[in-house]
Amino acid sequence: MTINTGAPVVVGVDGSAAALDAVRVAAREAAYRQRPLRVVHAFVWALTGVPLAPAPGAPAGAGLRNQAQRYVTEAVAGAAKVAPDVEVTGAVIDGAATPVLVTESQEAVLLVLGHRGLGGFAGLLIGSVTVQVSARAACPVLVVRGEARADGPVVVGVDGSALSTEAVGFAFEEAARRGVPLVAVHAWLYPSPAGPGEILPLVYDLDAYGAEEERTLAESVAGFAERYPEVPVRHRLVRGTPARVLVEESQRAQLVVVGAAGAGALGGLLLGSVSHAVLHHAHCPLAIVRHPRRPARS
Ligand SMILES: Nc1ncnc2c1ncn2[C@@H]1O[C@H](COP(=O)(O)OP(=O)(O)OP(=O)(O)O)[C@@H](O)[C@H]1O
Ligand SMILES: [Mg+2]
Repeated sequence: MTINTGAPVVVGVDGSAAALDAVRVAAREAAYRQRPLRVVHAFVWALTGVPLAPAPGAPAGAGLRNQAQRYVTEAVAGAAKVAPDVEVTGAVIDGAATPVLVTESQEAVLLVLGHRGLGGFAGLLIGSVTVQVSARAACPVLVVRGEARADGPVVVGVDGSALSTEAVGFAFEEAARRGVPLVAVHAWLYPSPAGPGEILPLVYDLDAYGAEEERTLAESVAGFAERYPEVPVRHRLVRGTPARVLVEESQRAQLVVVGAAGAGALGGLLLGSVSHAVLHHAHCPLAIVRHPRRPARS
């Protein structure tokens, strides 16, 4: 049976090996979710006014537009091999990569990107398109990077904010689908004021604050744990820098999930500092969850 209903999983391709890795992951995600897969290449040359068709006398398949089409055709074929039951379509869309992909995210259930592309320079940890789109997408973004430990858990970063609760929901769905445990990590260094204007005492009882942090973690997870009783959950309360702790956890995980911004984000900041750091340094694929989503199960 071919899966062809509902909002698609979308994957961006640019002819790079990293994007083809993303296509394989996207095909599996589409199969899990029983969604179609849409492969998109943003064709920036259309904006430049350079000749796009083959030069006079050149072979019929030459020219920039044909090349763009080949990126998509190759990716569609790669996806079909991984997930034969998923309907896979491809599109070359004229425009710059970031706006094209952000527009695609408005109709997608998930947007999958490689961590690098054709551009960049040796040693670049993450490409600019992936950074920009992760900060602006209207749906969750899955950035394919590093190695997904097949036997590893899904790890989610929790800070008690509304977006981290979204991330927890996404992480439970993924853990349930993959049949693996979930590790909910809350890292804290110093007590944080509960709201604007609250002033912490000069001397405080760390244990009392630790208990408060444990409560934050437990409350963020509790409702979802009831909804997904089949997912074994481990709480990890760690005194440490959140980004460092999550990057460390990513060495043993198959997926790390974070909210796009957290409780400490400045107004208007599109990607919080923890998400930004994990995006650059995670050792396994990373999902960034931004918007309020309808849960798969309620
Ligand atoms: N033109 C494009 N169309 C569709 N998806 C793209 C396009 N360019 C990049 N992507 C997606 O974004 C991912 C990362 O590419 P990105 O362009 O961010 O990295 P880069 O080319 O290494 O660096 P930079 O472009 O910043 O110099 C790719 O693997 C692909 O999934
Ligand atoms: Mg690029």
